[in-house]
Amino acid sequence: MAVNNIIILGIESSCDDTSAAILAGTKILSNVTATQLIHERYGGVVPELASRAHQENILPVVERAIEEAGITLKDIQAVAFTQGPGLLGSLVVGTSFAKAFALAQNIPLLAVHHMKAHILAHFIDDMEKEKPTFPFLCLTVSGGHTQIVLVESHLKMSILGKTIDDAAGEAFDKAAKMLGFYYPGGPLIDKFAQLGNPDKFTFSKPRIQGLDFSFSGLKTSILYSIRDAQKENPNFIEENRNDLCASIQKSIVSILIQKLEQAVQQTGVNQVALAGGVSANSELRKVLNGKKMDDWKVFIPKFEYCTDNAAMIAIAGKFLFDSGDFATQAVSAKARMDW
Ligand code: KG4
Ligand code: ZN
Repeated sequence: MAVNNIIILGIESSCDDTSAAILAGTKILSNVTATQLIHERYGGVVPELASRAHQENILPVVERAIEEAGITLKDIQAVAFTQGPGLLGSLVVGTSFAKAFALAQNIPLLAVHHMKAHILAHFIDDMEKEKPTFPFLCLTVSGGHTQIVLVESHLKMSILGKTIDDAAGEAFDKAAKMLGFYYPGGPLIDKFAQLGNPDKFTFSKPRIQGLDFSFSGLKTSILYSIRDAQKENPNFIEENRNDLCASIQKSIVSILIQKLEQAVQQTGVNQVALAGGVSANSELRKVLNGKKMDDWKVFIPKFEYCTDNAAMIAIAGKFLFDSGDFATQAVSAKARMDW
């Protein structure tokens, strides 16, 4: 029962971004995010601080999304929220808000899977971008997940490979921490890498079979390389910052691309999409775009829909709405959530 121009409020609070968006049909009218800078100095997201900040931010963010969309409360016909996976205390804030909102407005509630929403962000209406057709492969790379997903419909997706230890974003952030960067350091590695030589340093590559990923060996290899070099030269990091960033970035990206190549070969599916925070990485985008030469069709989301945002939650909610998959008031947040 697809309602073409249905207006949905999307709410995202799974980690350290509080976000609200208004979707009309498949168009985004507004997408407002409050990022919590409070975690920077702790080297990672502090769950207690995150849930407290979500509580403070959620109403102002929703109000701004409604205002920027140029609609009123009464125009909203359904509310979609991130049920999981993520930090429980953070998810509970968005879940409780969405439930109360749905109850007060007497509108349907749509419980969204955060990682599926990252993938479904590709279906947000955007005249500039062509949308993937089914089936396609999606490399979902975030701070908590690294997966190769076979997407057969808006609702049918299966995981072909996943990380057995750290996620790609975690690998970026942990390496960045070794270089003394604030959390999340992934974007800073990307920034300094632009000025560095990616072939200056080489780190060990994982030897893992199939389509699964592993980043813990790389992490150890980076740690030991830096530690050994610092014994000779205490200023090693400062003097080699850009080259270290470029070399680390090249290693992580080549691990991701090698498994994607394997997945394309194995499935015969040559439409490849990117999703999740790490898809903002410029080297990953560049290398993947280069694969068009190998006859791949490549889909990279708009920058603002790569990292956590409520626009993707709203569009994922629309597909649930269209299939009649509504949540009840008994729904609860899930730190771990089945696919
Ligand atoms: O999807 P996301 O916003 O949040 C999670 O659901 O985890 O992903 C955040 C991750 C962080 O690890 C962050 O360092 C990484 O995405 N990230 C990047 C870049 N932008 C964000 N990593 C490398 N290069 C970037 N440009
Ligand atoms: Zn995410």
